[in-house]
Amino acid sequence: MKKLIAGNWKMNGGLAANEALVRAMLAGIGQPAAHVALCAPAPYLAQLQSLLAGSSVAWGSQDVSAHEQGAYTGEVSAAMLRDFACRYAIVGHSERRQYHGETDAVVAQKAQRALSAGITPIVCVGETLAEREAGQTEAVVKRQLAAVIHVVAHCTSEIVVAYEPVWAIGTGKTATPEQAQQVHAVLRHQLAAATAHPERVQILYGGSMNAANAASLLAQPDIDGGLIGGASLKAADFLQIVAAAG
Ligand code: 13P
Repeated sequence: MKKLIAGNWKMNGGLAANEALVRAMLAGIGQPAAHVALCAPAPYLAQLQSLLAGSSVAWGSQDVSAHEQGAYTGEVSAAMLRDFACRYAIVGHSERRQYHGETDAVVAQKAQRALSAGITPIVCVGETLAEREAGQTEAVVKRQLAAVIHVVAHCTSEIVVAYEPVWAIGTGKTATPEQAQQVHAVLRHQLAAATAHPERVQILYGGSMNAANAASLLAQPDIDGGLIGGASLKAADFLQIVAAAG
């Protein structure tokens, strides 16, 4: 399966900085062996569309509303993302769960909204440090993924899953390839009960993935790509990760 390297810019960037970053990426990317995507703040999706249309790089959002349309001030619907040709929408990122109170049920709704609009949800799961130390890692990620599988049901093979241990996000602490693989195998096994082709579901690793550690993580049998935060804000670093996924 082709790997997927997706950048998550989080709440960073600006018109001028985005353009410089994207142009530098496009200048160096050639014909990547992996699928590549950039997930930008919603106001910049039109900019990404104009910069990336026709290139080998797709784009997506970092969130999507759980509602279809209507009186939900500040929300962005899946249909709106579709208007800007988003291929992906990150849902359930730990920062949304942590700071914006997103529950497993809300995350599942969001995944369903994205799928209904023809957008691939990148469903994030991951344990906190306290949960890992309490031996709850498997139970937590399985609960988070089960909520999504329950709602999207026969469309489970169309989602992307991202395992992002919360303690590894933005901390410089990466899960070892073995630690990550162990959780990815659990997720693959769980997907196998829900879809006939669990091997078709890309399971990305995220959490301080960078140019130096990408190759060893991506070499694991169940790591099908990466969801990259900080290193996706630097063209050279991001391109090295893309090259490591070849
Ligand atoms: P970092 O790569 O900055 O640790 O962020 C990972 C992440 O949260 C991607 O969604």
